[in-house]
Amino acid sequence: MHHDRIAEKFRKKIITAEQAAELIKDGMVVGASGFTKAGDAKATLSALAERAKNHPLKISLMTGASLGHNLDGKLAEAGALARRMPFQADATLRKKINAGEVMFTDQHLGETAELLAYGFLPPIDIAVIEVAAIYSDGSILPTTSVGNNLTYARHAKQVILEVNATIPLEIQGFHDIFATGLSPYRQIIPVVEPSTRIGTETMPIDPEKIIAVVVSTIKDSPVDLSAVDEKTQAISDHLMDFFNQEVRKGRLTSQLPPLQTGIGNIANAVFSGFQKGNFENLQMYSEVLQDSTFDLIDSGKMQFASASSFAVTAECYERFFANLDAYRGKVLLRPEKISNSPEVIRRLGVIAINTAIEFDLYGNVNSTHIGGTKMMNGIGGSGDFARNSYLSIFVTQSASKNNSISHVVPMVTHVDSNEHDVDILVTDQGLADLRGLAPRERALRVIENCCHPEYRDQLKAYHKEALARGGHTPHIIERAFSWHQSFNERGTMKLNG
Ligand code: COA
Repeated sequence: MHHDRIAEKFRKKIITAEQAAELIKDGMVVGASGFTKAGDAKATLSALAERAKNHPLKISLMTGASLGHNLDGKLAEAGALARRMPFQADATLRKKINAGEVMFTDQHLGETAELLAYGFLPPIDIAVIEVAAIYSDGSILPTTSVGNNLTYARHAKQVILEVNATIPLEIQGFHDIFATGLSPYRQIIPVVEPSTRIGTETMPIDPEKIIAVVVSTIKDSPVDLSAVDEKTQAISDHLMDFFNQEVRKGRLTSQLPPLQTGIGNIANAVFSGFQKGNFENLQMYSEVLQDSTFDLIDSGKMQFASASSFAVTAECYERFFANLDAYRGKVLLRPEKISNSPEVIRRLGVIAINTAIEFDLYGNVNSTHIGGTKMMNGIGGSGDFARNSYLSIFVTQSASKNNSISHVVPMVTHVDSNEHDVDILVTDQGLADLRGLAPRERALRVIENCCHPEYRDQLKAYHKEALARGGHTPHIIERAFSWHQSFNERGTMKLNG
């Protein structure tokens, strides 16, 4: 049974997903694979959610990032989650987090492995990791994400491996597994360009820890992407104009430094803009690869892409596996501690493009909290990249929901990336280059270039009155959140609407 995938000495450990789920007990800390729907331990975690319906248990769950197959939703629904970190993107779990029923630790993705290794997080009882193959020395062949798997397996007392038999073994060569060690003996991460291979193709796991092997034939759940619309197209066009200007000024070349983008429709649409632009030999140093990455590789615009996982549609997933040889040498997946490493991001001079929920007059960005209190998804890797990049760009629509929400506000209700880490803001209205500006200068650019016309006078009035009160960063403290208050009370941020 799966002789090519499971070394003989581990075949006697094969059990069903249901039996594996029984090994996970109430109160345990579980470190699982999975990053933006890719490479999650789908069979075992689904079975755990089923089991929890009739045998109540609560675990603390750490992963790479969000999970597919509604796993977070199913586990949350079954009441199986006491604590969750470092990221999620599930509507049911979100409700439980916001009701205070699940303790969510929203973390920079590049930091989770470190915090665990330093002993700041609860020790892991069981790691549950999806793999494509297990070799006789216990080393494993990863699948569509690497995430925190290396650290979880190293720090767990026991390991369950879920062998996904749908992943071709030819995926070997698409991973680069490297451990840095910890300060003060931490190694330099010698990535000098996105394509530098620094580690191994497989991941070492202590064979003594492997207590069970589960075989699954469930594919990753696909990402849904909407078509590019007028707004996302406008955001993309403003960014492309900006990059072209930077090339004309001699500050960038047509290759551009390595690129990072967040996930989602805006990010994918923005990135598709490179398809038409005058850019060539592009590279990515990112945490997730979306469809647009593979489109750019296919059209010859992109040379190389490094990340920690795939977040692609069903079509793109099939395209990747049907053409592995075409992508070989052009794509690498690394541990998220490496993909999101401040050291490498700074060395490569990455251009980071992330999506904001809202940003304010002075360039502070809220990426996580709706109305300042309700968690949306989490900061993900946006902070790792924003702080350390060569250019930190945030994009969002200027207004939404029939323009009842302005995404450009006087003061953000929660700060994830602050004014010191944000260089460029872009909405469908235009782009504000904030580099080198003082707060009073920043505000003028944000109002003129980014704010929706239906909110511009309102923002100008706020700013004018704030200026009259003085200060380095002028505000009317008692009215800084009046737009959000208006939305809560009247359903619109328009004060006279
Ligand atoms: N006020 C109220 N609701 C808001 C809002 C605001 N200012 N901004 C966004 N929302 C709501 C939207 O209405 C939408 O809700 P709906 O699904 O009920 O319509 C939801 O939040 C998502 O917003 P959307 O406009 O569809 O954008 P998106 O899918 O591109 O997601 C973020 C935007 C910011 C939530 C998302 O990019 C994110 O989670 N970012 C943080 C993580 C990150 O940056 N990772 C980077 C590396 S992957």
